[in-house]
Formats: sequence, structure tokens, C-alpha cells
Amino acid sequence: MVRNILFVCTGNTCRSPMAAALLRQLLKERSDELGKIKISSAGLYASPGAPASPEAVEVMRGYGADLSTHLARELEEEELAAADLILTMTHAQKNQMLKDYPSLQDRVFVLKEYLRGGDGVSGPHDDLPDPFGQPVDVYRRCAAVLDKDLRALIQLLASEENSKENTENNPVENPAENSVSRQKGGRKMKIALGSDHAGFALKEEIARYLRETGYEFKDFGVFSTEAVDYPDQAAVVARAVANGQFDQGIIICGTGIGVSMAANKIKGIRAALCHDVFSAQMARAHNDSNVLTMGARVVGPGLALAIVETYLKGEFAGGRHQQRVDKIMKLEE
Ligand code: RB5
Repeated sequence: MVRNILFVCTGNTCRSPMAAALLRQLLKERSDELGKIKISSAGLYASPGAPASPEAVEVMRGYGADLSTHLARELEEEELAAADLILTMTHAQKNQMLKDYPSLQDRVFVLKEYLRGGDGVSGPHDDLPDPFGQPVDVYRRCAAVLDKDLRALIQLLASEENSKENTENNPVENPAENSVSRQKGGRKMKIALGSDHAGFALKEEIARYLRETGYEFKDFGVFSTEAVDYPDQAAVVARAVANGQFDQGIIICGTGIGVSMAANKIKGIRAALCHDVFSAQMARAHNDSNVLTMGARVVGPGLALAIVETYLKGEFAGGRHQQRVDKIMKLEE
């Protein structure tokens, strides 16, 4: 769980203090763990003690956030060490940070990159342009982008927190031993499960099926039909598979398309969108797929469970298919 977020921009007079003030404002009523997150900001090239730009103060007032007493700060090593998530406003700022502090590799992201699941492929497309010296309307547009992105950040952090709670209360679900799928070497297959709001009901059906059939799995949420952005959910599950914690992922959205696209952006993932049993079988046998995606608005629960069953029981055929899968993975380089 993220406990300490540091926003970084260039001068710490516009974007990063606005982001910090907005996030504080958005979290201030929360009584859960998110309400306890420590939030600060600093600048790569700040003039210590400089006030926030008057336009930033004015625009933030409209969001109920007070920047009138803000004083610009430089990055401090202690603060960097304490932060578990450091969010920059541009790709260049991230690169500069990593040049100065290479050990922060796992903690520094451009804000938009982090919202995509921290895929490590940030670029200028992730940049939030600097409003410094521009008319107040430019600041307003900057604040509107930040407001939207920070709301998405909150959803992402909340879903991570929910899945943590879910595991603590219900550590990787693992009922009676039975014959269901084992990995090579006899270890039980571990499955990461998740959905967006559109896939919630089907995801619950799949969780029930996995539980009753004796699969070991963790439900990464969502846990209600409240709208979320499907890339966030897809990234959480896909990363859990990509980092080796889980052997397979199952992700559900309305069509299965969005989560499939998002999951396939995570290095190491071969997500397969399957709406029939034959594809599910082939996805494992020929493509050595490690994430199954489906659309709850496309298939009913009966077919979906048959697809899940076939998929999980599938095995990679290897042989000539290995070199093809290797070629897929080489495309990531
Ligand atoms: C949500 O309405 C829907 O767009 C999403 O669940 C999924 O279908 C996206 O591909």
C-alpha cells in the first residue's frame, strides 16, 4: 500500500504543488487507509521559498484547496527515501530523477504512466505541460487534467488497498486439495482474478467456480459495480502475473477487449480474449497464454465457466509453438 506520495515538477510553484493540494483535498474526507497517505511536493530546480504562482493559487481556490502559503522546495534525500511513490509531471522530469537517483527506479513514474500500471514505457505523450507564465485559463486546463488523473489515481490506490484487505481476510483462497490444475513440479496453479464494474457480476461467478473447484486464487476486485477504468484493473492483475506471483490471470470487462489490450501492454503478458471453448484451448496449447480475458456483455456465465475450465486445464504444446511464442516475446524488446 502506498503511504507516502511525493509529486515532483521543475520549479515546485505550479504543477506539483497543485497536484499535492488537489490530492490532499480529494482524500481529506476519507476515513480509510487512503486518508492517511502523506502527500508532499518538490521541484527538480526549485528556488526554495518561492511562492506558488498567483494563477495556481487562484485556480486551486476553485477546488477548495489553499496554496497561498505554499513555498517552493528542492528535493531532499530524506524525503526521497521516505516516499514510496514519486510522481513526476513529465517524462523528462522522470528521466532526470532517475539520472540523479538511479536507486529510485521502482518508485518514480510519470503520473500518467503510473495510471497505466507503471508500464515503464513513458514518453512525451505522458507530459502535463507547464502552465508557468501562461494565462489563468491554461492553469485551469492543467488543474482539470490533474483533477481527472488524481481521481483515477485514488481509484487505483483504493483497488490495491481492497485487494490487500481481501487477501488478508481471505489469504489466497485455497480450499480442500483436489485434482485441479497443478504447475509442472506438482505446485498448485495460482490464479489472479479481476474485473472492472461491467465484469463484476461475472467475475463473482468465476470466483465462486474457482473456490468450489478448489483452485488457488486471489480476487483483485473490483468489489462493486461502481464505475472504474478497466486499464487500472487489468494492470493490477497483469502485473501480478508478470512479476511471477501468479501463474495465470483472468480479467473480465464488458467486452473483454479493453482489459485484453491493457494487459498485453504489461511486459511478459500474453493475454487472450476467448469467447469460445476452442479458442480457450488453443490460447494455452499454441500461444502459451498467461491471461484469459472475457466480456461479461458477450458471454453468459454458463459459457464463461466452460471457457475458464478449458483454459485452466490447458497445457502448452511446446515444439514448433515455442519458437513462435519466443518471437512474440521478442517483439517486446
Ligand atoms: C465499460 O463500459 C466498458 O467499456 C468496459 O467494460 C470494456 O468493455 C472495455 O473494453
